[in-house]
Amino acid sequence: MNMIEQPTRELLELQLLPQNSSGVEIGVLRGTHARWMIENLHTSTVYLVDHWKSYFRDGVPRESRKREAQYAGILNRFAAEIVSGAVIVLRGSSSEVHTKIPDGSLNWVYVDGLHTYEGCLYDMETYRPKLLSGGHMLVHDYNAKTSPANGTKRAVAEYLHNHPKDIVVGNSMEYSGEIAIRCSL
Ligand SMILES: C[S@@+](CC[C@H](N)C(=O)[O-])C[C@H]1O[C@@H](n2cnc3c(N)ncnc32)[C@H](O)[C@@H]1O
Repeated sequence: MNMIEQPTRELLELQLLPQNSSGVEIGVLRGTHARWMIENLHTSTVYLVDHWKSYFRDGVPRESRKREAQYAGILNRFAAEIVSGAVIVLRGSSSEVHTKIPDGSLNWVYVDGLHTYEGCLYDMETYRPKLLSGGHMLVHDYNAKTSPANGTKRAVAEYLHNHPKDIVVGNSMEYSGEIAIRCSL
């Protein structure tokens, strides 16, 4: 398959991911990208994973009023989809909540949580088994300028080393960068 190149992540996802698909977004924030996915891919089920906590100097995520308000905003923004079961909000660290998603159930995994090498690699490896055969893993902020110490780029390189049959099938050329990998499951 030829590499798909698109100027934005949205165009890349539209070209690569199936309509009516199911997926997980790791790192949701205010739900801007998740909302776009739901409306443009007409998704069947989307898991939203985020702890909605703030990072302080010691790097430990803790509750904060601002993040509580963001979480409340998510419940409000996706209220209809939550009721219908089209959106399942999993509040917690990606390492805590992954067991709530059945293996082999998703068309795509969208990684946009912790952008360190360890955090990004952890999410890629832990959520890979959630994919259906031929599913895609997308990693946002692949561009070195938007991920400190090349965290996401190094994580993707290590992941591809671990799974030599998984192939990079797309990238977006936008500033933050996004890479798409087809998994060999
Ligand atoms: C860059 S923002 C996500 C932006 C969102 N994907 C969008 O494009 O609209 C990163 C989010 O990841 C969350 N996050 C960071 N580390 C996480 C972890 N280990 N588990 C769950 N969420 C995490 C943060 O709380 C933050 O809301």
